Amino acid sequence: MSKPQATDPVNAPLANLEEWEDFLKTRYPEPAGTSAKPFDATDPDKKTEQFRNYEANARPSVREFYRLNHLHQTHDFVLAKKKDFLSLNRRTMGIWEAMEYLNTMVDDSDPDTDLSQLEHLLQTAEQIRKDGHPRWFILTGLIHDLGKILCLWGEPQWAVVGDTFPVGCAYSDTIVFHKFFEANPDSREERFQNRLGIYEEGCGLDKVHLSWGHDEYIHHVVRDYLPAEALYMLRYHSFYPGHREDAYAYLMNEQDRKMFDVVRAFNPYDLYTKNHEKPDVMRLRPFYEDLITEYFPKELKW
Ligand SMILES: [Fe+2]
Repeated sequence: MSKPQATDPVNAPLANLEEWEDFLKTRYPEPAGTSAKPFDATDPDKKTEQFRNYEANARPSVREFYRLNHLHQTHDFVLAKKKDFLSLNRRTMGIWEAMEYLNTMVDDSDPDTDLSQLEHLLQTAEQIRKDGHPRWFILTGLIHDLGKILCLWGEPQWAVVGDTFPVGCAYSDTIVFHKFFEANPDSREERFQNRLGIYEEGCGLDKVHLSWGHDEYIHHVVRDYLPAEALYMLRYHSFYPGHREDAYAYLMNEQDRKMFDVVRAFNPYDLYTKNHEKPDVMRLRPFYEDLITEYFPKELKW
C-alpha cells in the first residue's frame, strides 16, 4: 500500500471533517423537535430502503471518503497505527494546549459561518453542563474529539474519522457503504470471514481491534485519568454499528453491555450540539481550566 498524505487530495476527499458528521446526521436525525424523521426500527423493509437512500444521496466527497476508509482499514493497518501512535511519543502538552493545537487544523470550512474546532468542543461540553450531568461527563464532552489532531501529523481523513467497526472478523451489514469492503484485502483473508473471525464469543471489546481513528487515540492518551464511563464514551463514540445498530453484540461482554448505555447517552451530545452559536471562549475558559486541573496533570503524553 502506498503511503497516503493528508495534503494529497486523493486522501482528503472531504472539504472538512464535519462533512462526515453531517452525513451521520442524515442517517441518525435528531429524534424530537425536528422535522427530520428517525428510522422506523420496527419495520425492517423500510429501514433497508432508507439505508439505500442515504447511500445514494450522499455527497460524492462523502462516498469517496467511505470508499477509502473501507478499502484501507485492514487488520494489519490498525495494528501498525496502534503501534505507532499509542506509544505516545510525539508531543507533551496539556489539555487546553491540545485544544489550541487542534484549532490550528486548516480545512475548507466557511470562516464566516463555521465554528473553530475549539468552539465545537466547548459547545458539546456546555450542552452536557446545561443538562446537569457530572463534571467528568462535561470534561469528556470537552475532549472527545481531541484525537483529531492526528490530522495535523499527516494522517489521512479516512484514518482519523469515520464510523468505526471491528477488523479481523466479518463486516456487519449495518455498516454504511458495505459494498466498499469488497476491495479491502481482508475480504480475501479466510480467517476473517465469519462472524467471530479471530475473536471469541463474548470476549469483550477491549480485546477487539476497531478500525483506527481519533476515538482509540484520545482514549489511550487519557486512560489513566478518567472514570470507566468516560473512557467508554471516548473510545466508542464513533462505533455506530455498536451503539446505534446493536451489531457485534456477540463480541461484547457484560461490562460492555452495561457501559454502552453511557455511550448511547453521550451520542446525542456528539451528534446534535454543533451549531452556529458561538460560545464565549474567554468567559468559559476559567471554568474549563479548573475542570481540566481537577482530573489531569499539567502535561500529558500525546
Ligand atoms: Fe468524534
